[in-house]
Amino acid sequence: MDTYELMMKRRSVRAFHDREVPESVIEKLMDVANNAPSGGNIQPLSIIVVRNPESRNKLSELAGGQPWVKNAPLSMIFCLDFYRVKKWAELCQTDFRGEQALNHFLIAYADLMAAAQNVVILAESLGLGSVYIGSIQHEIDETRKYFQIPEYVLPLMVLCLGYPKSIPQHIPKLKRETITHHEKYQPLEKEAIQKAFDDKYGKIDEDMEKYLERAFVEALEAEKQETTRFLDRVKKEMKRLDIQNNAQFLFKVRYPTKVMVRMNHRIKESIQNAGFKIF
Ligand SMILES: Cc1cc2nc3c(=O)[nH]c(=O)nc-3n(C[C@H](O)[C@H](O)[C@H](O)COP(=O)(O)O)c2cc1C
Repeated sequence: MDTYELMMKRRSVRAFHDREVPESVIEKLMDVANNAPSGGNIQPLSIIVVRNPESRNKLSELAGGQPWVKNAPLSMIFCLDFYRVKKWAELCQTDFRGEQALNHFLIAYADLMAAAQNVVILAESLGLGSVYIGSIQHEIDETRKYFQIPEYVLPLMVLCLGYPKSIPQHIPKLKRETITHHEKYQPLEKEAIQKAFDDKYGKIDEDMEKYLERAFVEALEAEKQETTRFLDRVKKEMKRLDIQNNAQFLFKVRYPTKVMVRMNHRIKESIQNAGFKIF
């Protein structure tokens, strides 16, 4: 399989076999993370490799109870790490203040995601599945406490990895043309925007299971892995809010706008608690 095919067939995997990921494979995954591009080649990144069941349970709890986090045999916590760089600068009689510089912060977050995506692609090629867990950003304080993460270090992304038990098949995407702009940005007309998203998700129809399979694969998987009636709760909420279309489903049920905006305060405070002064 060539790299294009490999990357086109990749899906986020949330059901893993119990089988451990061998040490030699983990070393390779860490190598490609370490070999990722990095702004100024400063490499302000640390990765915590999590395998023991107690830590996996804790990580799952910190990720809002997502069952695949505890069921994955391996997780990696990607941390934006200015602690090491600051200490090094100090030892070298100079001053690094990434924790105060928005530009350093944004570039370091880009570094972190470039490293994580290197891991995703190598993992795929080695027969492993992976899924990002962004919701760890809601629990930065507690994650720092449990994993003994020092000041100037922020756990901002988790990757769960393991040998796939099942792989989602119908993940909708926008058409390539929708995201492509030649030379200059070309805004889409209203009708074209509507069509782009209708084509992506299809209509919310009678067959709710089928719809959720396309639009909320996490809910179906959670239902399979947990005894909680998560799917029922989602369906009830959709009824209660009289959800009519895909955008309402996303921004009223899955990521309620008010909740997302309210979250600013919490995330900002956590970043400040780690010694950052960028706001
Ligand atoms: C930044 C980021 C954060 C994500 N966070 C979560 C998460 O917390 N839980 C989860 O199950 N999937 C998470 N995902 C996976 C997405 O749900 C998934 O990429 C999306 O549904 C598209 O599916 P695909 O990866 O198979 O193309 C995240 C993906 C990204 C890129």
